[in-house]
Amino acid sequence: MARDLDILILAAGRGSRMGSDIPKVLHPLLGDPLIRHVIDAALELSPREIGVIVGHARQQVKSELANYDLTFVLQRDQKGTGHAVRCADKHFAGRKGHVMILSGDVPLMRGSTLKSFFQHHKKSRLPASLITASLDHPGSLGRVVRDARGRVERIVEARDADFSELAIREINSGIYLFRNADLFEGLRKLKLHRGSGEYYLTDVIKMLATAGRGVHAESIADPFEALGINTGTELLSAQETLRRRIALEHASRGVEFIDPSSTFVGKGVTIGAGTVVWPFSVIQGGVSIGARCRIGPFAHLRPGSVIEDGAQVGSFVEVKNSRLGRDSMAKHLAFIGDADIGAGVNVGAGAVTANFDGKRIHRTEIGDGAFIGSGSVLVAPAKVGEHATVGAGAVVPKGHEVSAHDTVVGVPAVSTANAKAKKSPVVKTAGKKAKTKAVRRKKSS
Ligand code: UD1
Ligand code: CA
Repeated sequence: MARDLDILILAAGRGSRMGSDIPKVLHPLLGDPLIRHVIDAALELSPREIGVIVGHARQQVKSELANYDLTFVLQRDQKGTGHAVRCADKHFAGRKGHVMILSGDVPLMRGSTLKSFFQHHKKSRLPASLITASLDHPGSLGRVVRDARGRVERIVEARDADFSELAIREINSGIYLFRNADLFEGLRKLKLHRGSGEYYLTDVIKMLATAGRGVHAESIADPFEALGINTGTELLSAQETLRRRIALEHASRGVEFIDPSSTFVGKGVTIGAGTVVWPFSVIQGGVSIGARCRIGPFAHLRPGSVIEDGAQVGSFVEVKNSRLGRDSMAKHLAFIGDADIGAGVNVGAGAVTANFDGKRIHRTEIGDGAFIGSGSVLVAPAKVGEHATVGAGAVVPKGHEVSAHDTVVGVPAVSTANAKAKKSPVVKTAGKKAKTKAVRRKKSS
């Protein structure tokens, strides 16, 4: 743990430029709210504490982040970035070490970039550092003004900049490191900008530079990391950048995308070498895919899915919170939900695990080597034993088990062995609790 580092994330603003009711930091970027991307990067530094400054729609923001260990700081009225950080004074001031400030709307910054930023800041022994980038179209971002000797002098907001300042291409990313004492001392001296009615955090940089204390500027090579999301257009551009970044990372580890631009791969997905992903597939965050698999075209792998080595998920197949074992196949039009499927299983075209009974979700288990016929429905909870066969169009009712090596057919499904014996169906209706009942195969006499 970095015992000399606290991180503050600014997330109190409304984001009125997004033109939507959703608080800005909760807008989804590849399925996860912007601020989650920022927190995930922050966690890579293992800081002593992470504080999130909340204000607008704070309950919504807090409940979205409930599974992280965070300290929430309230900024009741949004009076600017300087005012936002000042709200953390009570809890964070007077500590040893440094404070990193991140923006909840700058989601593409890598944890590794932040790590080296922290190293360089400490090495510089200067009271403050900021990450800058050089952009061809700096737009509405703050410009970094340097003096004749190239030292950072101040940051000017685009709205306050004159013509020559607007022409500066080096921008302020909104990511800073300060020595704790210098930060909070500076914040206490901030003056209101009459025009905007805000206190600017950037003025602390100016104060330190003017006092000759020196500010380190860390210019980063990939300007997209500094992309701040203020408008829907910028969000779209961030989606494209992140998608490409993720595809390139997988490609560098031996995964082949036939067309990355039409493939959605979320964050935290693992894919083994030699796997080929065909176009129009959606692989959501956290999904795990083994080596030498074939995914898509038009496959949808939802959270909690594990596709083991050599397995195949084909066209219009949706997999949710399920395991598809080694070398198993579901190649066309199937729904696999909350199922645990063993190795070497064939799931036929149009087969469905009916996981939801209108009230609750139930699981389905399918043993190694089983054959699930086309158009069959397994009403969960249900079990299909190893090497069993479910005939095309069969319906295995809720709470039943097909024994290993048995073959069942029809609606409701009956064992072909029992059918010959003209006995009642081998499948029994489940009790109220819908426990999985074993259906024993009876030899015909
Ligand atoms: C800010 C910087 C600008 C920089 C840009 C980088 C200032 C004055 N300007 O401008 O130099 O180029 O970021 O993206 O700092 N926030 C609060 N409380 C507030 C105001 C803002 O928590 O009272 C939060 C917002 O929710 C957002 C972040 O601070 O996450 C940045 O605020 P925003 O209004 O977007 O600042 P910019 O105009 O982008
Ligand atoms: Ca911004």
